[in-house]
Amino acid sequence: MDDRHHHEVAKWERRWIAISGLMTLSFVILIAYSLATEGAHIAQSAARGSPDTLLQQAMFTDPGVRVVGPNQLQVSIVGQAFVWVPETIRVPQGAEVEFYLTARDVIHGWQVENTNLNVEVIPGEVSRLRTSFDEVGTYRVTCNEYCGIGHQNMLGWIEVVPASQWAADTAAEGAAVGEVMAEGGAGVDGAAVYAANCASCHGPAGAGIAGAFPPLAEHAADIAVTDGGRDYLIDAMLYGLMGPIVVDGVSYNGVMPAWGQLADAEIAAVIDHIVGLGGPAADPFTADEVAAQRGRGLSAADVLAIRQQVLP
Ligand code: CUA
Repeated sequence: MDDRHHHEVAKWERRWIAISGLMTLSFVILIAYSLATEGAHIAQSAARGSPDTLLQQAMFTDPGVRVVGPNQLQVSIVGQAFVWVPETIRVPQGAEVEFYLTARDVIHGWQVENTNLNVEVIPGEVSRLRTSFDEVGTYRVTCNEYCGIGHQNMLGWIEVVPASQWAADTAAEGAAVGEVMAEGGAGVDGAAVYAANCASCHGPAGAGIAGAFPPLAEHAADIAVTDGGRDYLIDAMLYGLMGPIVVDGVSYNGVMPAWGQLADAEIAAVIDHIVGLGGPAADPFTADEVAAQRGRGLSAADVLAIRQQVLP
């Protein structure tokens, strides 16, 4: 090989090496700059295991905000198609907040808008992340990982309030929750439970989406007056439903997540709301009826088998 040619190739190579070196350097500078000005919030894996086992931890059977020390909060959140549970959390300004996030079904992405909080939420894994909110306001939480047809409706809110207001609200809410529990299903707004948890898939009026999510209006009311139908409706709420079904001549083969994290009174109230969307009238559902179906450990597939007995 002649020496002059060899030299020319090396010259171009050197230029390209210099360009890629400059690019790498500018990326490192940008990362260092953002870490210095925005702070780092890198989620850590706090636990791994089967999704069912993780979801049985007290933190996730009753997700939400817990006070763990002076000005220290622990917040647990479950992502599932297509809702963050709980949907709204309220934290005091400036408190140290440790988030624990996991998913019930598929991978979701927990992103708090206008912040650098952005965590991939994975079934069978608990992600932990510590932060604090210095400014009062409402932050919207979105899902940034495509998780199914209701993905774009998977929203949540973080309300950051002054510490004094937070303390006052928390004390008042404690009293209100106690009152509602004593009243049973009658004290809970089923329409609100429906809007928060069910409307993103089944539609605001329960019309469903043909082929994707079955209609509830009239269909649920028909079931409620069928033998065994009341218990089946409660089971579908508590344990979910999975597999092929036909409603009004249209086939569906999807997954309804379990809603056992809702209180007995909330489940009774939301079924009342759904039954009230149209069709024959049924007696109001009670929290006691829901409580009687709890603890049976059914799977979503078991509920399909019950459905096949109730609606042959
Ligand atoms: Cu959850 Cu997209």
